[in-house]
Amino acid sequence: MDLGQDRDRSTQRLRSRAWFDSPENPDMTALYIERYLNFGISLDELQSGRPIIGIAQTGSDLVPCNRHHIELAKRVREGIRDAGGIALEFPTHPIQETGKRPTAGLDRNLSYLSLVESIYGYPMDGVVLTIGCDKTTPACLMAAATVNIPAIALSVGPMLNGWFKGERTGSGTIVWKAREMLAAGEIDYKGFIELVASSAPSTGWCNTMGTATTMNSLCEALGMSLPGSAAIPAPYRDRQENAYRTGLQIVEMVHADRKPSDVLTRQAFLNAIRVNSAIGGSTNAPIHLNAIARHIGVELTLADWEDHGADVPLLVNLQPAGTYLGEDFYRAGGVPAVMGKLLRAGLIEGDVLTANGRTVADNVGTADSEDADVIWPLDAPLKPAAGLTVLSGNLFDSAVMKLSVISDAFRARYLSNPDDPNAFEGTAFVFDGPEDYHRRIDDPALGIDERSILIMRGAGPVGYPGGAEVVNMRPPVALIQAGVHALPCLGDGRQSGTSGSPSILNAAPEAAVGGGLALVRTGDRIRIDLNRHSADLLVDDAEMDRRREALGEARDYVPPSQTPWQEIHRSLVGQFDTGAVLENAVKYQRIAQTFGIPRDSH
Ligand code: FES
Ligand code: MG
Repeated sequence: MDLGQDRDRSTQRLRSRAWFDSPENPDMTALYIERYLNFGISLDELQSGRPIIGIAQTGSDLVPCNRHHIELAKRVREGIRDAGGIALEFPTHPIQETGKRPTAGLDRNLSYLSLVESIYGYPMDGVVLTIGCDKTTPACLMAAATVNIPAIALSVGPMLNGWFKGERTGSGTIVWKAREMLAAGEIDYKGFIELVASSAPSTGWCNTMGTATTMNSLCEALGMSLPGSAAIPAPYRDRQENAYRTGLQIVEMVHADRKPSDVLTRQAFLNAIRVNSAIGGSTNAPIHLNAIARHIGVELTLADWEDHGADVPLLVNLQPAGTYLGEDFYRAGGVPAVMGKLLRAGLIEGDVLTANGRTVADNVGTADSEDADVIWPLDAPLKPAAGLTVLSGNLFDSAVMKLSVISDAFRARYLSNPDDPNAFEGTAFVFDGPEDYHRRIDDPALGIDERSILIMRGAGPVGYPGGAEVVNMRPPVALIQAGVHALPCLGDGRQSGTSGSPSILNAAPEAAVGGGLALVRTGDRIRIDLNRHSADLLVDDAEMDRRREALGEARDYVPPSQTPWQEIHRSLVGQFDTGAVLENAVKYQRIAQTFGIPRDSH
């Protein structure tokens, strides 16, 4: 049988030929061929000249959020086969957000590294990236950027909506609420677990606008997945169809030689920043998008998030900023509906290429909301300016705050002084890591009151390797019972995208590398001014110098590394503002073009 019908369709010689069909290198070709035949794939297939497509499988029992990809990959294979390609599925290093200790952030860069080796070092002409749980999306896109062979992402999709006693319960978001209820004695341990479990009724990722929905939506906004694909709930039939179409598309992309560098342009990133504001995206988004941009070699800074995203209104009414969940977002039109609105208002650029070979304008030009209570109109949005604001001062060079989650109650308590609008002063309470916080928060002797600012340090990419999502801290029980549900929080760690706390996060440089947070002491006064974008310790320079000298090398909230990777990661990782990437990795760009195919193995 002649399977060579696609031999001449590609615009260039396929890289997989160097392994399987290289007459000038018969010794090695024989060695490669011999070993790949052993599971039943035939010589005819391997030498047919068809594109070989990798499927990077992120789902496993360890990563339940992405586990449905094990099923979806079957439909991806069928799409690849129907389009004339051959699929080779391979596992990636697992990353599951909540289960991985000490952090999943640590594994984003490890998974990135191993994916670069897999995609670059094995015979593939294109790759399907199976994305979902928080860090699986950036890890895959970062690796695709570094290698730069044709690549398309497939989202696994959110879980179905969670329900409890007739009300929507959203993943993560319900945990913060249930913790408060447990602390206040409104529910017991059993009721607590039951309430939280109700939020996860099916396979898929967190059904709130947490980091998973955010990053999958932004992947679509960047043009790295098919239009309309991010919001489809995991169990829906449309998701299976989307998997099939993704398989068809990647083969076309290989023939067209459409690579990440053609899609991931600066304009694509700026579009994604604006989409992030409109969806009420996670504060983890700047870390991950800045990381992807660095690996593809696009200039993108934290300032771009403020400059291009701060004044974009919030349109999507999903928890934690709003009411609804993933199924509602899909039914209301998903990412295309949001992008269509932004495009027609001139807020995003339409002339940007996407994975399917069409532009953003082609893909979403006429898309619009099917439910105005879920995706709101631009001229009557949920919140007017909903992006991230970037703060700086003597405490840190940069930190971010998500404006869309500042509640009216919080605004009234802290930001409504007519003489000093959008600014407040408070007294610092410093916690050296989450253990310290949990041990002491409810101790009445601390005297935490509603003018206190809770500080979390030792939680950044070096201090808590990878960076822990621990900056959003609930107030002491006594304050909750008195009706104070949120205190200002500030720290060098991250915050879960599912949390609605108006925290000041991702402070860089972190305390563990000598940032200003290392110098704060409980009882210090701190001034935060959102108009001036500042956060300052009200301590004079001479005292700051004295404290810095006294600090020396002693930072006992930075425990020793426990694994080889923790140590390696700590020695190479940068800070949150620049993506917390492995700094040595950034110089390796577009390696499939820069270096061609790697040398033979034997
Ligand atoms: Fe995996 Fe939320 S914990 S998607
Ligand atoms: Mg998280």
